[in-house]
This record gives sequence, C-alpha cells and structure tokens, in this order.
Amino acid sequence: MATPVSGPKTSSQWRLRARPQGRARESDFEWVEEATPELVEGQILVRILYLSLDPTNRIWMEPVDSYLPMLPLGAVMRGVTIGVVEASRQRGFAAGDIVQGLGGWQSYYAGDAAGWSKLPRIPGVPLTAFFGAMGHIGFSAYFGLMDIGQPKAGETLVVSAAGGAVGSLAGQMGKIAGCRVVGITGSDEKCEWIQRDLGFDAAVNYKKENLSEALERACPKGIDIDFENVGGAVMDAVLGCLNLGARVVLCGLISQYNAAGPVAGPSNFIHILGRRARVQGFLVTDFSSRFGEATAQIVQWMQQGTLKYRIDLVDGLHEAPKALNRLFDGGNTGKLVVKVSDEPGK
Ligand SMILES: NC(=O)c1ccc[n+]([C@@H]2O[C@H](COP(=O)([O-])OP(=O)(O)OC[C@H]3O[C@@H](n4cnc5c(N)ncnc54)[C@H](OP(=O)(O)O)[C@@H]3O)[C@@H](O)[C@H]2O)c1
Repeated sequence: MATPVSGPKTSSQWRLRARPQGRARESDFEWVEEATPELVEGQILVRILYLSLDPTNRIWMEPVDSYLPMLPLGAVMRGVTIGVVEASRQRGFAAGDIVQGLGGWQSYYAGDAAGWSKLPRIPGVPLTAFFGAMGHIGFSAYFGLMDIGQPKAGETLVVSAAGGAVGSLAGQMGKIAGCRVVGITGSDEKCEWIQRDLGFDAAVNYKKENLSEALERACPKGIDIDFENVGGAVMDAVLGCLNLGARVVLCGLISQYNAAGPVAGPSNFIHILGRRARVQGFLVTDFSSRFGEATAQIVQWMQQGTLKYRIDLVDGLHEAPKALNRLFDGGNTGKLVVKVSDEPGK
C-alpha cells in the first residue's frame, strides 16, 4: 500500500565536484543541503540509515561508462544504501519498510522506487549484514569461489585482501569446501584475525614479508585457486606458484583503482600458459537470478557458526569521503559501512 507524503525533508548530500586524480580527496566532493522534491507517482522517500563504502565507488568517479553509466559531475555520489521508507507513491512500498537500493551519499533519497527492494527483519541479524555476508559481498564470495573457483577438498586456495569484506568470507567458504586456505593481508592484526577467528590455515603480511618466498612456504603443494581481489604485485606473486589446471577468480583489482594512467600487466602471465590455468572475471550481478540460493546457504553457515563476518562501522555521512580511502590503505577490517542515521526504534 502506498503511504501519503509527509512534506519535504532536508537532505545532506555529498555531490561529486571533480574527477579525482589518484586517490579521491574530500575536495573532490561538495557538501550540499537540499530540500527533497515532492514525490510523483512511482517514487519513494527514504531516510538513509546505512551507506556501503565499496572499492568500486572509486571506479564510478571516472569519466567513463563502466558496468554502470558514468556519474556526471555535480550528481549525488552513487552508493548502495539501506534505509527506511518515510513516504511512498509506489504500490508495494509503505512507510516503515526497510529497503535497499542505490540511494547515494545523502541522508534522504527521493526518487524512483525501481531498483529498490524490501529487506526482511531477521532476529539476531543486524541490517548491516545485508551489505556484508547476506548481500553483494557474501554473494561475490559465494559465486566467485563456488562457481568459478570450483574448489575441491584438499586443494590450496589463496585469497588476497583476506582481512576485507569479500576476502574474509571467500576464505571461510574455502575452508567449508575442504581446502587449505592461505590469506594475504596488509597487517599482523588481520593475519591473526583470519587465522585465529576465521580458521584460515596460514596468513601472509604482504607489507612485511617477501611475498613469493612466504607463499612458497605457506603453499607447499602449490596453488590451485587464486581468489584475486588485488592484482598488481600481489597477483604476480600468486601466479608464480600456480599448479597445473589452476583457476584464477578475478573478483577485483583494487591496487589499480586509483591509478592515474595505464597500469603494467602481470609480469608472471606466462605461468597461465605453462600451467594451463583459467582466468575468469565476474560481476556479482551476473548471478542475480541465484541470490536466493546463496542467501539460503549463507544463512545456514552463519547459523552453524562456520561463517563469521565483521562490520567496520564509521559514524556519520560527513566522514564518507575520508573513510572511503580506508579501503585503499587497508584501514578497514571486514565490511566498511557508514552509519547515516538511527534505525527506527533505536
Ligand atoms: N566482482 C564483483 O562483483 C565484486 C563485488 C564486490 C567487491 N569486488 C572486489 O573485491 C575486492 C575486495 O572488495 P571489498 O569490498 O571486500 O573490500 P575490502 O577487502 O573490505 O577492502 C579492500 C582491502 O584491499 C586491500 N588493499 C587495498 N589496496 C591494496 C593494494 N594496493 N595492495 C594490496 N592490498 C590492497 C586492503 O587490505 P590490506 O590491509 O590487506 O592491504 C583493504 O582493506 C575489490 O577489488 C572489489 O573491487 C568485486
């Protein structure tokens, strides 16, 4: 049932002011306060509760179409959000519904309901989990590993950015599949977390150790699956240890997202040839028709205690531009989320 409109709200917004050169700076954004427009048929007014910060946000700032259309300068920065509907002129959405969609870096979204979906309230599951294990992050880990990586018991899986959102889940799923799992991260704390709390068999701090030597030690039988989140020097070191018939799951290349110009190709690409390895990229949306299957499996693993996740919560929309760079300097552990406003009843 649609819900009558309650009047305009003031939406605080981060708008994209300039195309970043290298890392995004706060000066690439403009803080604007604007009254929300009156809703027309087919639209909803959403108070944003949480904003997901993702490495791909940096790709969206480039002056090119990617898998989404180019974001024009002056537009509200694009972002995945969870919010509560305050007013609706769209059948199927009513005040109080908890919804997820591309609400952007702002405190209120007023616009088309198309692309928004309602989220269930599950006792014991925080809403932020729908950005993490039970959302696009968990689905990336699940389909990337299970469908593209095709893990078999006894194989060795290496995961880069293993202390981050996708990597921490992909590694645990590898353990569930019976693999030896080795994580690459950029801090001793993350190395400890993924081994002690998440059950990885070994961890390598790429900022401290010679990565090739450390991988040889940690993967005495070579590497059968590379769950690749980083690219660059990290991926090169992994490619050097691939086994015959290895699979490289190309989930992300975060080391390249801030590059101001062309980046060098993998110097160890020759191992793909010699090892008859398969490299396959994917976008999580390729699997959208199977999200239900992933949700059911992930919920079961969470209930069994075999899949754990961590939310790294930043307080306040104002912090979003600064917080985004934590993804690029390793300042986050688990899924990075900005709290924009209080959940209803809290
Ligand atoms: N294909 C898809 O559909 C899909 C969907 C979601 C995410 N992704 C990709 O998956 C990857 C992980 O995303 P996420 O959201 O889970 O982020 P995340 O892993 O939570 O955060 C990024 C992490 O990457 C590491 N990192 C950053 N720059 C690095 C560099 N130059 N060299 C080595 N490590 C670096 C940092 O950890 P350290 O402390 O270890 O350096 C950082 O914490 C990204 O590449 C992202 O684009 C793809």
